[in-house]
Amino acid sequence: MLEDSLIKANPKEEATENKLYIQSYGCQMNFADSEIVASILKKEGYTTTTDSQQANLILINTCSIREKAEQTVRKRIKDFKKNKRKNKDLIIGILGCMAERLKSKFLEEEKLVDLVIGPDAYRDLPKLIKKTQDGRKAVNVILSKEETYADINPIRLNSNGVTAFVSIMRGCDNMCSFCVVPFTRGRERSRDPKSILKEIHQLNKSGFKEVTLLGQNVDSYLWFGGGAKKDLKKKSSISALTDFATLLHKIASNNQNIRIRFSTSNPQDMKDDVLKTIAKHENICNYIHLPVQSGSSKILQLMNRGHTREWYLDRITSINKYIPNCGLSSDFITGFCNETEDDHQMTLSLMEKVKYHFSYMFYYSERPNTFAERKLKDNVAEEVKKRRLQEIIKLQQTHSLLRNQQTVGNNYEVLIEGVSKKSENKFFGRTTYNTVVVFNKKTANVGDFVNVKINDCTSATLIGEII
Ligand code: SAH
Ligand code: F3S
Repeated sequence: MLEDSLIKANPKEEATENKLYIQSYGCQMNFADSEIVASILKKEGYTTTTDSQQANLILINTCSIREKAEQTVRKRIKDFKKNKRKNKDLIIGILGCMAERLKSKFLEEEKLVDLVIGPDAYRDLPKLIKKTQDGRKAVNVILSKEETYADINPIRLNSNGVTAFVSIMRGCDNMCSFCVVPFTRGRERSRDPKSILKEIHQLNKSGFKEVTLLGQNVDSYLWFGGGAKKDLKKKSSISALTDFATLLHKIASNNQNIRIRFSTSNPQDMKDDVLKTIAKHENICNYIHLPVQSGSSKILQLMNRGHTREWYLDRITSINKYIPNCGLSSDFITGFCNETEDDHQMTLSLMEKVKYHFSYMFYYSERPNTFAERKLKDNVAEEVKKRRLQEIIKLQQTHSLLRNQQTVGNNYEVLIEGVSKKSENKFFGRTTYNTVVVFNKKTANVGDFVNVKINDCTSATLIGEII
């Protein structure tokens, strides 16, 4: 799930020397990582600012998932470089997936930034900043099999005080043939459940009402004392195992007053025990993001997704069995290598079967070093990729509208997250199914759970009233 938008750090603008401006691109994990980075730098005396002109340290947490994401970041770096004309001590650093992918190329060939640091090396930031100040090259892109930042208490940036992300694992071992993430974020490793529970307990105590557990493949979560999941077989003594269903159960039963969400589920790892756990706990939201990418088994195999169309549809049947009316969303890629018109039709027909509430849809963008880049031909013409994308977007809109229309006349519990962007007199919030609802404020407050009757809808939003 991707959100190409800005995190602005938000604390009061204090008159301190060291000011950090941090901007995040890409997935929710990057946004959560920026909160870890802000926490590491707070110990070094940095406060965050929402004004890049005020900052003496600008960090850009980058995304490599598609070429366009990288182009956007490059443009932004060039904008920030202009700030150097006014402030020659300004340090500009690149974090995240692009840092990992391009490594010292940023410093040497492109001379764009002062500091380059990969997703597993953030603890090294204070040292690297000092190196930069001494005029030396500052780069650390070492990937780790252990690092989960478990002990770092994130500083909530741009927070509404109601919803928060909690990272439960890092990296990915799945090696989908189109995906750069295993190369930029390294091996899959899970975070100690004790530290996860502690973080959620603190969020709960400070008034947060919803947490989203984050990982590239949450259903694969497994705590066995730490380290890469791939090395599990080598371990001779394993003290205690905690899998995702057990973790969910513990979080939900210890925090019955708040909602729990998670993202992302990989179809091949999503087992029925997780579905049963969701069904058992009222405070685990009835919503699953289950990316399928394509409806054709041939393409799924080329993508190395580890499952067929039929297997995926069987997962959907299980979801509907254990969690009737569950909110469902997916990711799709059009125009992957060797995708024919028939394969594309299979994607449309899978969408017809599932009727997702919403989806994130992209056309294929070849990424350096992936299996697809090395072994397959990027042989679908760009205009075909884009035309197919438009077709799935159009179909998704009809399904989103249909799903939303089915809710009109019903009442739902909604957690109020903030004031609607379109009207000051209205709040917005989400149902358990992750659908956005807009309604008049009445006497309610941000952070309240309210009952809302749905009167109308568009394909994107439900419109209702507090009852
Ligand atoms: N498991 C991850 C997936 C991260 S990538 C998660 O937590 O969501 C998010 C989505 O980007 C993928 O599901 C896929 O649909 C899309 N994507 C990844 N690589 C891509 C590529 N090379 N071209 C186009 N879309 C891509
Ligand atoms: Fe990427 Fe597949 Fe992992 S999409 S993040 S390699 S599950």
